[in-house]
Amino acid sequence: MSLTICTYGNPILRKKAEEVTEITGEIHELAKDMLETMYEERGVGLAAEQVGRSERMFVIDIPPDSDMGDDGVRENPDVEMPLVFINPKITAHTEDIQVGPEGCLSFPEIFANVERWYEVDAEYTDLEGHVKQLHAKGLLARAVQHELDHLNGVLLVDRMSHVKKVALGGKLKRLVKETKKAL
Ligand code: CO
Repeated sequence: MSLTICTYGNPILRKKAEEVTEITGEIHELAKDMLETMYEERGVGLAAEQVGRSERMFVIDIPPDSDMGDDGVRENPDVEMPLVFINPKITAHTEDIQVGPEGCLSFPEIFANVERWYEVDAEYTDLEGHVKQLHAKGLLARAVQHELDHLNGVLLVDRMSHVKKVALGGKLKRLVKETKKAL
């Protein structure tokens, strides 16, 4: 079942998500629905808050042709997609920062450059209840950081430069207005 995406201006996006204590059938169902919704909306990541839920959980699927470094070499060739992250955290990162364009399904048609660590190590629980480690680079590392931000109530608009935020001012205002009208 595909779910409705909460857009910027919906207060749920500012909440801090809650730890998942048990991997129930409901969690499996939510993961399946979140993936379906993400594919339908052509996103590469989606956090539970974006579909109005409070679980600390997100999904990511980076297609192979988007998983390329500047040299045209796959950055995460051994990572199997899609990924379902439950109670994720970043355990380590390199100091190397990469600036890149970022979008978000909660900010339709809005893109901005955001600084992210180029490489991160993450720890999370999968749907089978196993604790997993992930070493991620490039777009995958960016997606993990973006989705983890969602679980802490931090949004794309908080990560973009002040200049960009001002430039997008009218668009952001309209989005908030539309979101509030639909609530
Ligand atoms: Co997002």
